[in-house]
Amino acid sequence: MSQIKKPHQLISGEKDVTSFVLRAMANTDDPRLQAIVTSLVTHLHQFVMETRPTEQEFEFGLRWLAALGQHTNESNNEVVLAADVLGISTLVDLINNDGLQGETMSALLGPFYRGDAPICAAGDCIARAGTPGPRIYFSGRVTGVDGAPIAQASLDVWQASPVGLYENQDASQPDLNLRGKFTTDREGRFAFTSVRPAGYPVPTNGPVGDLLRAQNRAPMRPAHIHFIVSAPGHKTLITQVFFDHAEALEQDVVFGAKQPLVGGFVEHRSADPAYPGAEPPFFSATYDFKLVPGTPCFPVPPITGKTR
Ligand SMILES: [Fe+2]
Repeated sequence: MSQIKKPHQLISGEKDVTSFVLRAMANTDDPRLQAIVTSLVTHLHQFVMETRPTEQEFEFGLRWLAALGQHTNESNNEVVLAADVLGISTLVDLINNDGLQGETMSALLGPFYRGDAPICAAGDCIARAGTPGPRIYFSGRVTGVDGAPIAQASLDVWQASPVGLYENQDASQPDLNLRGKFTTDREGRFAFTSVRPAGYPVPTNGPVGDLLRAQNRAPMRPAHIHFIVSAPGHKTLITQVFFDHAEALEQDVVFGAKQPLVGGFVEHRSADPAYPGAEPPFFSATYDFKLVPGTPCFPVPPITGKTR
């Protein structure tokens, strides 16, 4: 007597694929990984069904993703850059740092944090080897959200040059130029000197540049100084203080600029006794950073050095 075989449960059309994939992943041990990948697959499948790419478009998209990795090296992180220009980095930043407890708002780490900046004393200039450009005198305090000073807080500072290049992009700058680590005093105060940073284009020689050109987008970021402010017992603040006028801020290609982070730089066209020895024209800015209680946590530097 012949047995009637049950038909295999197999995919018969596009409507079946998502449920088959989700079922295949159902035994994931880590519940958070399970939730994230389930949502990722669900949304990716919806995206594919909505846009209905041709096979050529699919291959093009995969090549673009592969090129992100191929263009990532010790001095450039194309993957981070892609997340930045698509607004994903800012979205994740705002989900995790909403600023609602009175703390200073955060902003993107960016692709050029190195993590090995020289230790500096209060007032030191991070523009080394006579980097030309208008001087800036930057000072402020690090406090809790209640205004209480935080002594021995650490500020890791880095910025682009007056022509808009980070030292890792520019063979004419000394290694680790325009980078420094400062510590607050008993009143939570810090101070450093530098040169005015310029706005700059993000790197456009890779797949992210191809995308920006195809979208007729300017690759520019408004001028800014990066900070990582940290202290024991406090959540580490990763942020940027912006220099530029409103138009450049509104066109930030990575969507990092936020109104409370505009630094209020003042231009001094003549000598000012409050800044002895400062040669006009120069700029000054005072900016206070407020930290919330929490556990310090430092980012992994996206790059480790420069390519020359
Ligand atoms: Fe930057």
